[in-house]
Amino acid sequence: TSAPAAAPAAHGCVGSGLLSRIAPSPSRSGTVPARPGSGARTRAGAAQAMVMMADPKPHELPLWRTLQAHAGQGRPHLKDMLSDVPRCINMFREVDGVVLDFSRQLMTQETQRLLMELAHQSQLEKKIEAMFQGDRINISENRAVLHTALRMAKDQSLVVDGQDVVKDVHAVLDQVKMFSEKIRSGELRGATGKKLTQVVAIGIGGSFLGPAFVHTALETERSAQQAAAGRTLRFLANVDPEDVSRALSGLNAETTLFVVISKTFTTAETMLNARTTRAWLKIQLGDAPEVISKHMVAVSTSLEKVSAFGIAQENTFGFWDWVGGRYSVASAVGVLPLALQYGYDMVESFLTGMRSIDEHFRSAPLHNNLPVLMGLISVWNHTFLGHHVNAILPYDQALSKFPAHIQQVSMESNGKGVFLDGSPVPFSTGEIIFGEPGTNGQHSFYQLIHQGRVVPVDFIGVCVGQQPIYLPGEPVSNHDELMSNFFAQADALAYGKTPQEVLASEPGLPAELVNHKVFSGNRPSLSILLPRLEAYQVGQLLALYEHRVAVQGFIWGIDSFDQWGVELGKQLATKMRREISDIRRDGRDVSAMGKDSFNYSTTRLL
Ligand code: F6P
Repeated sequence: TSAPAAAPAAHGCVGSGLLSRIAPSPSRSGTVPARPGSGARTRAGAAQAMVMMADPKPHELPLWRTLQAHAGQGRPHLKDMLSDVPRCINMFREVDGVVLDFSRQLMTQETQRLLMELAHQSQLEKKIEAMFQGDRINISENRAVLHTALRMAKDQSLVVDGQDVVKDVHAVLDQVKMFSEKIRSGELRGATGKKLTQVVAIGIGGSFLGPAFVHTALETERSAQQAAAGRTLRFLANVDPEDVSRALSGLNAETTLFVVISKTFTTAETMLNARTTRAWLKIQLGDAPEVISKHMVAVSTSLEKVSAFGIAQENTFGFWDWVGGRYSVASAVGVLPLALQYGYDMVESFLTGMRSIDEHFRSAPLHNNLPVLMGLISVWNHTFLGHHVNAILPYDQALSKFPAHIQQVSMESNGKGVFLDGSPVPFSTGEIIFGEPGTNGQHSFYQLIHQGRVVPVDFIGVCVGQQPIYLPGEPVSNHDELMSNFFAQADALAYGKTPQEVLASEPGLPAELVNHKVFSGNRPSLSILLPRLEAYQVGQLLALYEHRVAVQGFIWGIDSFDQWGVELGKQLATKMRREISDIRRDGRDVSAMGKDSFNYSTTRLL
């Protein structure tokens, strides 16, 4: 670590902070069949691929053209569709406490029927089953997609390639349980004998966003708060040294445990942050071997790389290549830091909540299946109506990191340009996700979604908030105030306000101002209501959206489980790193090297 850290300091690019101190130093089909036992592409693998590779392609299905024509025909204004009660009844579902109301979508009952037909013609049920049973549906990487196995109960079994993966999953969960209990009780302590009460989880992308979302969601939940008393959990994701500085700020190394989380254990950001914190530990606590063995553990699929880094096998928590990074929160990636912070029981309820939605997704008929409905709705909005953005707006501060997590789950999964067979997709896939909690967003970007572009919105609300506040003299509780906005916004988008209504509310308003105050309405949203927000519901919500993304990808006929699009930038960064290192080392003139290596712009910027 010393060479690259020393160089920036010499060039005066880095302040006196951390680096300069470091420098010197059960299913619809009923059964779960066994899979054939080879990692290579087998004939069975080819058969699995046939289920996934829709032939004809989605846009060649008769239903596709029917839906295009149907979208072009238009439909009544939402204010009229919302007064059609039978329609609204048909667009309301409740599953294990989770309510989904999609009556404010730009859909008639005929649209709903056609989308169901599209699901059938796309062989959606078979594709869902192929995922659950461990087929290699991630075709471009020839991998199974089995994050659902992470949530299966101990007494269940799923044999893939001759191996009961549920057994493997629970062996790691048992390891997490035992380790977290020992850390929390103080049976395992730091190198100087102090209790390890502070945890820093180091990881990025799927090795960060999911665990950080769940942590934020539980932080103000009362039983979780009690379980976490006296403990802290922080995350270090960005390679930016400012993030290192923030993550370490005020920490006592004697009481700090670092959890290095990386599926590959090669991700540049995570590895540099791991080396940086390892160096920090040594500066703070000395060079003795127990400094690393007692203050650093790892979560990875690459046990050899973890061991090469210097973390012992007994301090390593494994997972498997059939868990995609962005779907890994239910593996040790999320479970370990969360169990350390909140105790293992909390983790179990989170996993049970996920399992409830997994089982529903696998077994419920498509027309009553929440993730299927949500996936079809988003395909309708995106592909047929041309609304490419989806705002996720939780009316619950505890869900503040949910949009960012789903942004990765959705955009890394479905931002693809080719079908599973590699041929180009002639329609757009992959919604653009953004979001903030209400009511904050109302004072920020809602202007655009009310009077600018049409942005389909997901409103997420909770019936009973985590922290009740009732002020004497106030007309409603603070949470009821929040939820008043939740209900109001959905109707504001749907109904809008006509010029007549504007004038009725402001008689005598100058004519040139009227249109500024008109709202077209007819803007789609769906509403999700959870009874409360405890670990169980956090798990349900997450599984709901994970499966929604899978449904979109199954309908679009793409591989939602690879992410080749992140590779090119990584390769170019490697080249840049080499060049910058040369410039630093040799004190070379940047402009002199630009001709051969970089274009004018990069040379100039360098
Ligand atoms: O670059 C994207 C990505 O590969 C994500 O898919 C993944 O979650 C993240 O990087 C981190 O990867 P790893 O867990 O291997 O460090």
